[in-house]
Amino acid sequence: MIRSFWRMAFQKVFVGANLPLLVTVTLSFLFSPPAHAAVPISFIEKQNLWILQTGGSSYAFGVNERGELQHLYWGKRLDTQDFSNPHSLPEWSSFDPSATTTPQEYPGWGAGLYLEPALKVTFANGNREVILHYVEQQVNGDNLEITLKDEVAPLYVRLHYRVYPDNGIIERSARIENRTNEAVTLESAQSATWTLPADRSYRLHYLTGRWAGEFQVQTEDLQVGKRIIESQRGSTGDDANPWFAIDQSDGTNETHGPVWFGELGWSGNWRFTIERTSSDQCRVVGGFNPFDFGYRLAPGESLETPPFYAGFTNAGLGEASRILHRFQVERILPGSPHPRIRPVLYNSWYATELNVDVAGQLSLAEKAAQLGVERFVVDSGWYGRGDDTRGGVGDWQVNPRKFPNGLKPLIDRVHQLGMDFGLWVEPETVSPDSDLYRQHPDWVMNFPGRSRTEVGNRLVLNFARDDVKEYVFSWLDRLVTENDIALLKWDYNRNWSDPGWPEVPTADQKKIWVQYVQNLYEIIDRLRSKHPRLEFEGCSGGGARVDAGMLRRVDQFWPSDNTDALDRLAIQYGFTQAYSPHLMIDWVTDVPDGINGRVTPLPFRFLVAMTGALAIGGDLNKWTADDISVATKMISFYKRIRGTVQDGKLYRLGSPTESDFSATEHVSEDNRQVVVVAFLHSQQFGRSVPLLRLQGLAEDATYSLTTIDDKLEEKVEKVRGAYLMHHGIRLRLRGDYDATAVELDRVQ
Ligand code: GLA
Repeated sequence: MIRSFWRMAFQKVFVGANLPLLVTVTLSFLFSPPAHAAVPISFIEKQNLWILQTGGSSYAFGVNERGELQHLYWGKRLDTQDFSNPHSLPEWSSFDPSATTTPQEYPGWGAGLYLEPALKVTFANGNREVILHYVEQQVNGDNLEITLKDEVAPLYVRLHYRVYPDNGIIERSARIENRTNEAVTLESAQSATWTLPADRSYRLHYLTGRWAGEFQVQTEDLQVGKRIIESQRGSTGDDANPWFAIDQSDGTNETHGPVWFGELGWSGNWRFTIERTSSDQCRVVGGFNPFDFGYRLAPGESLETPPFYAGFTNAGLGEASRILHRFQVERILPGSPHPRIRPVLYNSWYATELNVDVAGQLSLAEKAAQLGVERFVVDSGWYGRGDDTRGGVGDWQVNPRKFPNGLKPLIDRVHQLGMDFGLWVEPETVSPDSDLYRQHPDWVMNFPGRSRTEVGNRLVLNFARDDVKEYVFSWLDRLVTENDIALLKWDYNRNWSDPGWPEVPTADQKKIWVQYVQNLYEIIDRLRSKHPRLEFEGCSGGGARVDAGMLRRVDQFWPSDNTDALDRLAIQYGFTQAYSPHLMIDWVTDVPDGINGRVTPLPFRFLVAMTGALAIGGDLNKWTADDISVATKMISFYKRIRGTVQDGKLYRLGSPTESDFSATEHVSEDNRQVVVVAFLHSQQFGRSVPLLRLQGLAEDATYSLTTIDDKLEEKVEKVRGAYLMHHGIRLRLRGDYDATAVELDRVQ
């Protein structure tokens, strides 16, 4: 195909042979604000470019002379006048054509593109290339929609940009529409290509993990080539998380320097391809995982990709996290911009495991209430017929042997005790030994004639099926209608295998990867809209489904089954890179720890849990009078500071994986309260505890100090912000697993 054809087509659009397009372009020019105005989206018609301004950053792209949407800039804020006309870059050699050297906003595969494409398509006639060109645009407040079309076939891509000017975030997604007369198969459909300024010194930060060891921060220099982080597990997974941050190895740390970061709102298979080219271009392409994707679009059908949120800051990795935290709290979480503060919760799992019954739960509830707990959650084991651990998942009737009169007597008593009630469910899996599976063996995902892979004594229900979706919605709806339930802990204790969907035509069976997740979202969305006070905790055997897609639907996450306080510090350090402490439920459990046998003091366990959403998960029947007194004091202190901890600005003062001393500092949004929680993991005798220099305070403000346990070396009652930030405070911590908390209140 001769590309000059597109030069002509481009002229046609802008010179006026096509009247509707001309009207769109002209009107948007007439109503475009002046180039210098501080508006989130500026369209500079003369130069065919768009500039998105958000927080301290600018993002610019335009239509080049070939009609392609070309990326121009992403970084520190510039003025709209600073940008020049988009023009494609020349080929570097006969091996590196212009299609590869020119950064496109959303490149289709073809025309000599050797980089990761955003779109890869197979047409019915065998053509496998898609060359996207600009058609039209529409600005609506903070939203911009750009329409692209293949140069030959009526295959359209609508790129959606949403700017969150106060949050420093740009959201991108794409809708791919098949307006041809035949089916088109999408081999790869990405949400966005994010292009960074060309540079050689990029460093990638990402999160990996495993069951009971989620959210481990990894850092590596980006070499030439592709680095892939992904999940092919059917859900988000804990071996990687859909978040990235890229900084510059020679200039960035927690407090300084440029960082480009983002996270994907999708709870199924996902992939980020982070690519540094031989000419030092750096791009992040992310969206649906192309693995086994093959999404067939019938004529007239379209596919919407998940939202991909990204931002830039010049103030280090800590600020990148704070931008995401604020964005999540103000824009994504249910109840945003003011999601309900997390109540102090008790969960019975580690106390009783599956041995749940009315008497046992009541005994725990009575004790939890005395400590100041506000929500009592019964975990797994309340359902089914028997009491063995193998059967029952899927049979969601209240177990008559354990709760002869249903859940009501327990819930009523929990209410009398001043708490609300939560319940564990696992709607997506089924035990082979369950009535549900016996009645509907076809409801689990399977490849006909092949064995079904049981993991953890579970099979996975095929949520892509509408009958399964309706069934699950109705039993959950009935459960929360018949019982006064404030929170459902939605668990998911395995990943996919045998993802067959034999009931639909073979060509459509791979849609299971997408349809399943869409139906999962729909069930939760419908439950929320029918029961507006109902809250959800997202859980997948711990943190295996924590992502910005679930975050729109759940009020909190269970980050890990590992509640050992020391391990948890590392997990929380990783979690908060990408997600707000508001979301991070953290139980105080018993020692020796059930997972790794470690013994840590109760105050240390409490203080670790108090840097997120505090909860208790120990067997309260075994707690001593001393334990109860520590717990009561800690919970009452936590209630005073939790607004700041959950929704304030988090400063990570040191990494628990790199040092034996670490701390978190939380500053309330109004800057009036500051909470510092510090941890000494282990200490060689005679080695001093570092001075703790705070961050983000007003130099001239004066703060009063209150300690939870009198571990401040200097007996100061009032101190200036400048002193706290430049001199710092010394804490009297010693030995192993010592910790303390200090509350600072601004007095002037
Ligand atoms: C998962 C969860 C735990 C608990 C158990 C119950 O492991 O992460 O918190 O709910 O399931 O089976």
